[in-house]
Amino acid sequence: MTNKYKNWQLDIDEDKIAWLQLDKADSATNIISHEVMDELNDALDEVGGAHVRGLVFCSKKKSGFIYGADVEEFTKLTDPNSAFELIRRGQAVMDRIEMMGCTTVAMIHGFCLGGGLELSLACDYRVAEADSSKLGLPEVKLGIHPGFGGSVRSIQLLGVPTAMDLMLTGRTIDARRAKKIGLINFAVPMRQLKRTAKGVILNPPRVKPLPLWTRLLNNKWARPLLAKYLWRNVEKKASQEQYPAPFALIDLWLKFIDEPTDMLREEALSVARLITGDTAQNLIRVFFLQERMKSSGKLEGYKPRRVHVIGGGVMGGDIAAWCAMQGCQVTVQDRSHESLARVMKRAHKLYKKKLKRPRPIQAAMDRLMPDLHGDGLSRADVVIEAIFEDLEAKQALFRDVESRVSADTLLCTNTSSIPLEEIGEALKEPGRLVGLHFFNPVAMMQLVEIVHGDKTDDEVIQKASAFTHQIKRLPLQVKSSPGFLVNRILMPYLMEAVVLAEEGVPLKAIDKAALKFGMPMGPITLADTVGLDICMHVAENLSQHLGGEVPRRLQELVKAGHLGKKSGQGFYKYDKKGKPQVDSTASSKVDDSVTERLVMRYVNEAMACLREGVIEDPDLLDAGMIFGTGFAPFRGGPMHYVHEQGVVAMRDQIAALEKQFGERFEPDAYWASI
Ligand code: NAI
Repeated sequence: MTNKYKNWQLDIDEDKIAWLQLDKADSATNIISHEVMDELNDALDEVGGAHVRGLVFCSKKKSGFIYGADVEEFTKLTDPNSAFELIRRGQAVMDRIEMMGCTTVAMIHGFCLGGGLELSLACDYRVAEADSSKLGLPEVKLGIHPGFGGSVRSIQLLGVPTAMDLMLTGRTIDARRAKKIGLINFAVPMRQLKRTAKGVILNPPRVKPLPLWTRLLNNKWARPLLAKYLWRNVEKKASQEQYPAPFALIDLWLKFIDEPTDMLREEALSVARLITGDTAQNLIRVFFLQERMKSSGKLEGYKPRRVHVIGGGVMGGDIAAWCAMQGCQVTVQDRSHESLARVMKRAHKLYKKKLKRPRPIQAAMDRLMPDLHGDGLSRADVVIEAIFEDLEAKQALFRDVESRVSADTLLCTNTSSIPLEEIGEALKEPGRLVGLHFFNPVAMMQLVEIVHGDKTDDEVIQKASAFTHQIKRLPLQVKSSPGFLVNRILMPYLMEAVVLAEEGVPLKAIDKAALKFGMPMGPITLADTVGLDICMHVAENLSQHLGGEVPRRLQELVKAGHLGKKSGQGFYKYDKKGKPQVDSTASSKVDDSVTERLVMRYVNEAMACLREGVIEDPDLLDAGMIFGTGFAPFRGGPMHYVHEQGVVAMRDQIAALEKQFGERFEPDAYWASI
């Protein structure tokens, strides 16, 4: 045994098997840093000199095998040449693993992502713990693609359709799926993991070659056709200009798969180019913003398990179902059996979609209990109110709730517009009340605004953030003020879209302008999806407090019962499948002035929120708008976008719009302070 490494431990057992354990120093998870790689290179020298029968890579961390590369180091890569050198060094280490003169095995538990999976791919075999393992190549999410030989080796091992699916979507898969597609050789329970790894070395099993048809897809005659198909599929989700990585990956395979040595070199060149580009650097920024939100949800020793949700409507029902899916014991209260039956039915549908297998579905259903009389209140760690948006009803409810819960129960409201201070008036201890503002649909929207009023206790805010993190949502602390943060900024943008429609700009052209900018959905489609009644309610609430008008077209549609997708008609008319019937004669040509007007309303409101202290700082604002509204992630957030474009230039632009369209474009005073 030697302990000369900071991050690795090498042991050689009586069967002459080397066990190389990664235990990254000063870190709860294993990540591949440049230092970890250098040490690995030295350790491979030592293993090579020991003439062993086999080498097993494993992890000493509970959290899993390897989480990926050290993203922090990515931010320091500004020059493509030095990035290329660094990547080539990493590739050389992976090549050495592949060329070891003994059998090599990756013994995986927990996370095995990115560079971690690339290391595993360089081994002869992969064995994984069946329940906890999560494997994937999520590099595209950071604007790059695998760089340590992962693109070459995954295609060689899995065939191009399966490997491309993993790399282009960046999705993670469990051990069961990984076994099915041939990514791992064995999926076994934890207690058998070591024995299996050893067994593989002592008796290396035969591995079936890929089926002929899969191999044929790599043939130079078949490639262009398949590449075209992959390219088109990616194009449906992202543009090459905004997200170049998936396109670069397809191109890499198309041109170089016949020559693995060239492909490795080109892989490194491509990643070096991508990683130093704006998209990757902005997506890395988004990754760190997300980490920052997660860390605001860390509170040692606080582990609420019992949740009681009151109101089983659109929001309450889904919040209850989500909490139960994340392992909480949930009681959900409504006024009738029928409403509760609907909650259970919707929850079952969600679990079938997300959990797939009968056992976990049943376990989640068992954790969700209908509770007509609120019996769960007395034992609840967290109470979430999601009844109608009515101040008196909410106050009456909280008066009752406060008298039935224990002293340390967290009291939360999902109100979207009522000031926390007003609901809190009903409580003996208003400091206990905090807003947990979920977004619709709960299972899709990662962000939860943690809304604090003047009186909310700090400890309550921390607990609410920790609970949110625990149920795998991203907490964002905001001040109780009209629209909070996300709706406040989104609404002027949506209203500008309505004004544009009133002016006669085709709906399709408005939506397309936003899509081209990088929004996930056009504002007209978004308004129809959220529901025009809900949009109008929020817009009215904001105009009451902050001035401005609700466009007439929106009021008319709501009055006519055209509430959007849910009623079959909003701005667009929808067919039975919910597909909008777009006027094919109208022009969808994007006019830059449309984009400009939409974006300017958005960023100007962002400035107002910063000036009023609705949110702590511009970075958190960016995080909120990316995870709450999908603001073009490759642009790094609205405030980052302003800085990239130039504050002065944008301020001049909005001042010009004010002259043309009036006071709704009046530059906020905050522009002058940045
Ligand atoms: P909803 O109308 O779908 O559901 C409200 C439910 O509360 C109904 O099932 C009703 O029977 C039940 N209820 C009313 N009074 C009750 C009481 N005293 N005890 C038990 N159950 C009671 O409403 P929705 O849309 O779910 O909204 C709920 C809250 O969430 C509101 O405060 C709303 O502003 C907020 N919100 C709504 C969003 C949305 O997109 N719908 C998004 C974010 C927040």
